[in-house]
Amino acid sequence: MRQDARANAAISILDNFLVGQNLNSVLSIWAENNRYAGSSDREAIRNIVFDVLRVKKTLTSVLEKEKQPINGRSLVFLHSVFYELNLNDIFTGREYGPEKLTIFEKEFSKISKENIKECFGVVDNIPDFLTAEFKRSLGRKFKNAMRLLEKRAPISIRVNPLKSDISSILECLSLEGIEGKKSKIVRYGIDIIGNPRRLTQIQAFKDGCFEVQDLHSQKIIEDLPLDEHTKVLDYCAGAGGKILSIACSLKGNGKFYIHDIDEKKLKEADLRAERAGVKFKRLEVEKLQNYRCSFDYIVADVPCSGSGAWRRNPQQKWRITPESLNEILTRQTVILDEVKDLLKKNGYIFYITCSLLKIENEELIENFLMDNKHFRLLNKKNITIDNSGDGFFCAVLQKKN
Ligand SMILES: C[S@@+](CC[C@H](N)C(=O)[O-])C[C@H]1O[C@@H](n2cnc3c(N)ncnc32)[C@H](O)[C@@H]1O
Repeated sequence: MRQDARANAAISILDNFLVGQNLNSVLSIWAENNRYAGSSDREAIRNIVFDVLRVKKTLTSVLEKEKQPINGRSLVFLHSVFYELNLNDIFTGREYGPEKLTIFEKEFSKISKENIKECFGVVDNIPDFLTAEFKRSLGRKFKNAMRLLEKRAPISIRVNPLKSDISSILECLSLEGIEGKKSKIVRYGIDIIGNPRRLTQIQAFKDGCFEVQDLHSQKIIEDLPLDEHTKVLDYCAGAGGKILSIACSLKGNGKFYIHDIDEKKLKEADLRAERAGVKFKRLEVEKLQNYRCSFDYIVADVPCSGSGAWRRNPQQKWRITPESLNEILTRQTVILDEVKDLLKKNGYIFYITCSLLKIENEELIENFLMDNKHFRLLNKKNITIDNSGDGFFCAVLQKKN
């Protein structure tokens, strides 16, 4: 697809997002209806949409100041101005491309870059209702986190020690024209620094030699006090990112159980386990009561605001509301209540979020400990969002005798 056609697709996708549709569904429907588009087209379109959404509030504030409508076209236009793209290659007026620039847009493009520049670094691209909570949670790190949330997330992989090693994978990436560098912060991690495309098309990926995983997500797991030959349950396993990391780091030595309310995600977790050469056992909801006091470790990687990973999911931050955040907090508490009886005495719960907010992290755990005197906090850790990875929180809770 030409650059203008890609921009036009991004404009229509953003229009659908702005009227309240779910972005992932809009992207899938678009791909289904436009089967001629290849994976590089889909990736380019997605990048435009995500780049715009990361800084939507900044762009919107300029448009409002200029009394311009806020829609897919105006957002893509402004974003293109700011990034000094050649507007004539985008707003071509050709078939499948956006209409040519209006007289107003032509004039505006000459001056608006300065206007946007003024707003960058001033407007914080998070929902208004969360600004105070972010400031309270991050303190001095607030401004830096705001700027990081405006950028694309780094890409990294985790090498599976059951099947390969760092130097073999670096070599394999290099043969594919992908530039990687051994991570300084985790044992099995590689930073992808150049040409990150097609990672999941590489044979070594298909053979289970590596997974795409954020370095900080790897770090959270690497720092857990885990022993081999134990029973581990991932209660919110989703597509299995965390439990895979655990199972591989324990070289498959242990019994690994997965549970989630979303059956579709668990199927993906099973596929990944098979690829990686480890085994997961499903823990069905109706069998939960048979597993009282059964597990040495329970991972509760709970649903959360996702604020530590909003660079990867910028749509999430524009959908969260005070009500939905409250629901999330309730869910987190309920999940901890559900898992505590499944744990053996002296066993550990690993409570994990990819949130930057104290209410979902330290404070939620404080409340849990107040209501559950038979648990104690062994350790807690915030990994701040930075250029290596997303923001995470982890609390290690031990069930006392
Ligand atoms: C942060 S995601 C987990 C990500 C996953 N652990 C990984 O590393 O790929 C949270 C998961 O919790 C699941 N979930 C939400 N409510 C739940 C509940 N009440 N019980 C179990 N799982 C739940 C969601 O379906 C979602 O997959």
